[in-house]
Order: sequence, then structure tokens, then C-alpha cells
Amino acid sequence: MSGLVIVGAQWGDEGKGKVTDYLARQAHLVVRYQGGNNAGHTVVAGGREFRLHLIPSGILYPDKICVIGNGMVVDPEVLFEELDAFIAQGVETARLYISDRAHLLLPYHLRLDEVEEESRGEERIGTTRRGIGPAYADKVARSGLRTGELTEPGWEARVARMVREKNRIFERLYGVPGFQPEQVVEDLKPYVERLRPYLTDTSLILAGALAQEKNILFEGAQGTMLDLDHGTYPFVTSSTPTAGGACHGSGVGPAAVSLVLGVSKAYLTRVGAGPFPTELEGSQCEEIRQKGREFGTTTGRPRRCGWLDLVMLRYAARVNGMGGLIITKLDVLDSLPEIRLCTAYRAKGKVITEFPASLRLLRECEPVYEELEGWREDTSRARRERDLPPAARRFLQRIAELTGIPVVMVSVGPDREQSIVLQDVFFSPQKKVLQA
Ligand code: GDP
Ligand code: IMO
Ligand code: MG
Repeated sequence: MSGLVIVGAQWGDEGKGKVTDYLARQAHLVVRYQGGNNAGHTVVAGGREFRLHLIPSGILYPDKICVIGNGMVVDPEVLFEELDAFIAQGVETARLYISDRAHLLLPYHLRLDEVEEESRGEERIGTTRRGIGPAYADKVARSGLRTGELTEPGWEARVARMVREKNRIFERLYGVPGFQPEQVVEDLKPYVERLRPYLTDTSLILAGALAQEKNILFEGAQGTMLDLDHGTYPFVTSSTPTAGGACHGSGVGPAAVSLVLGVSKAYLTRVGAGPFPTELEGSQCEEIRQKGREFGTTTGRPRRCGWLDLVMLRYAARVNGMGGLIITKLDVLDSLPEIRLCTAYRAKGKVITEFPASLRLLRECEPVYEELEGWREDTSRARRERDLPPAARRFLQRIAELTGIPVVMVSVGPDREQSIVLQDVFFSPQKKVLQA
């Protein structure tokens, strides 16, 4: 058996969807373990583009089992919109199971996300406004509703009571209208029947798969720097995208994970607010944004762009126990005459090599760069390592040297086929930590 965890090594949108879809070929099951439809994962296969928000990126293979784990928050309306869109496109989708312990994201969570963001004013996080933070807050406060509860008698009264409680917050704290409890219940009813066949104890499915030596691919959403604990708090999401979340959010033990691979762009982007030491301004940012089509998959917001930050990547390697790196969007840098790698920060007259917890300090950090010559060649048609220009190979080698983590795969375009495997280690249970 082999459990492979794919985590975002940056602030999300690293290309996890593409990588998951590519590696799903070798997997029997694909599992999402945290987040909700704040995620937007893009898969391009056979010339068609698919955008996934809640459903695992293994869905395009009819023979794979896809799991929405207990660690996720599920907006039923979005779930069925997504599923129906696949069905309408004639995609023969995988078998999907949803944990009966996953939490529901209901309309009042969406409105709360909005009013909370508005009230933060200048300090707003820049959330996706999909209700994620409020849904997880309810889970932690033990006021949430689990998907499985919808199949039991009395759920209507519980939902109505939750709505009335939230209405007090809307009306008294924020001065905005609340919801009609009966209406929220009525609107939920059609989804209850549709959800029922998908709901199960998904941890049992995973345990069975592990016992049968099946390959499980855990698809992280968001990224390490958006992790509630390890990210740039408070400019983070409300879940655990890092590798530990894979166990917690799916109901398997740590021994089920044989390898953690981090996905990183060849540069860096961020949507939403918060410090970003290697951020580029003006035309340099615009060039990468246009070439990399750096506009949010979920919200359409332009992404902030900058140079690859190896202080951050080393930190991500550490907190995830990363065994290998997957570098995506190499092709986006094809025309640049010079490429920079941030190897350290400078602040308060000191050189900083470990990613700081303090955002105050992070805001003061000036990047220390290593400059590399660009390759100025099209890499999008490369399919083997030797097809890559020497300068591109040098760039990848420097990333491995400076992080101590080997680069095992490179992506040179959005399509499934635009992938180069440098070390085929993905589902080999013996190799937990690879050598750079
Ligand atoms: P995710 O959230 O990590 O799955 O990433 P997104 O799908 O939000 O954003 C990545 C974007 O880059 C998508 O539009 C992908 O189709 C695209 N993409 C992925 N890998 C590559 C690559 O190697 N090169 C280029 N040019 N685009 C890529
Ligand atoms: P994928 O899985 C990029 C960001 C938001 C905001 C912060 C909190 O596609 O990589 P939230 O709505 O989660 O409360 O927002 O997190 N964010 C993402 N940024 N990719 C994502 O997902 C993101 N999901 C949330 O922009 O800064
Ligand atoms: Mg995304």
C-alpha cells in the first residue's frame, strides 16, 4: 500500500489539480481532506478544461474512487452544480463518496463571511467569500452540522435553531437582515435526498483500500502558507492544508502516508491580502500574470506575482516532511532574460534564513536574490528532462540544492501531457525521504 500526499507549497494555485490528475493514473483512490469550494483546481485533458472546487481531481477517470473527506466543508448547492456540470458534459465520472462526518456549509456561512470581511475594513483577509471561515468556526465551536445528520430525523429543527441563532448575530451585531429558518430548511430538502447515496464512513473505505495494498492519492487544497497554524496567520484559510491534515481530514493514521510531495510554481503568486517579500510590481508582475494566466480559478481576482521564495519553500518542506518537489509553470518563465531565486531575507541588519512567525518582521524582510540566466526557449513541448534547455535544468538543480529536496516532476503547460517526470517515485512505499 502507498499513500501519496500532494500539498501546495506556497499560497495556493500551484497546479495541484493538474498534478493530481496526472498522478491519479497510478492511484486507485483520490481523496480531498480539507477546505471547501474556496479551492479551484484546474485540469486540462484532451483539450478540455475542467475546474473543480469540491470534487477530487481524480474524477475524470471512471475507474477511480473519489472521496470527500471528513475534514472538508461542503456547500451542497455547489457540490451538485459541479457534479451536474460533469454529467451534462458527458464525462463518465468516478465513483464519489462523501464522508458522513464532513461539515455542511449553509447559506448563513456565506453571508457571515461577507459581513465579517466588510467589518474588518483595512484589515480584511481577502477571503474567497465562500463561507469557509464561518463553517469551520462553527465546527470548532461545536455548532456545525455534519452531512450525516441530514439523514436522521430532527435535522430540520436543528437547522432552524442554528438559523435563529445566526439571525441574532446578523441583526444585532451587523445590522443586516437574517434568514427565514423555514426557508433555509425548505431549500436544503432537495439536497438531502441527493446527498444520501453518497454519504458513508469514508475512513472505512480508505482502511479497506490500505488493507488491499491500493494506492491512495491525497489532494491538498490551498497551500502551506494558507495553513491555519503554519501559514501567514491571520491571512490564511481556516483549515489544515499541510500534510498532517491528510490524516486528520480523512481518517487514516500517519503510517498510511508513504510520501509527501510539495507543488510549487517556478515563481510565486498570492491572492488575497498579507505580506509577500518577493512580490513584483508593475510590468514585471504583469508579464508573469499574463503569461501564467494568473487570475483566480474561483474568484477571477488577479493574482499577485513574485519570484520564487526558497526561504518559504524550505519552511514548507520542513512542516510537511516533504520528500520531493514538483515544479509547475516552468514555461511561464521561458522568455525572461534573467530569473531570480530568493535564498534569504535581510531585516534589522541581519540575514534571516528561517521563515518568521511574525508578520511584522516578514513585512520588513528584503529578499536576498541569486540571479540566474534565463533560457529564452520554449519549454512547453519538452517531455523528458533532456529536452529542457541547460539553463532551465540549472534552475531546477539550484532549487533542489538550496532546499535540499529533489525535484521529481516538472510541469511545462496546463495539459496532462505537458509533464516531465524526473524521478518516478510516486507510489513506492519504501522511499519516504528522497535525496536531492
Ligand atoms: P491549483 O489550485 O493548485 O489546482 O491551481 P489552479 O488550477 O488554481 O491554478 C493553476 C493554473 O495554472 C491553472 O489554470 C492550470 O491550468 C495552469 N497550469 C498548471 N500547470 C501549468 C504549467 O505547467 N504551465 C502553465 N502555463 N499553466 C499551468
Ligand atoms: P486552491 O486549492 C489560492 C486564500 C484567499 C484568502 C485566504 C482565506 O485553488 O489552491 P478563505 O476563503 O479560504 O477563507 O480565504 O485564502 N485562498 C486561496 N488562495 N488558492 C486557493 O485554493 C485558496 N483558497 C483560499 O484568497 O487569501
Ligand atoms: Mg486554485
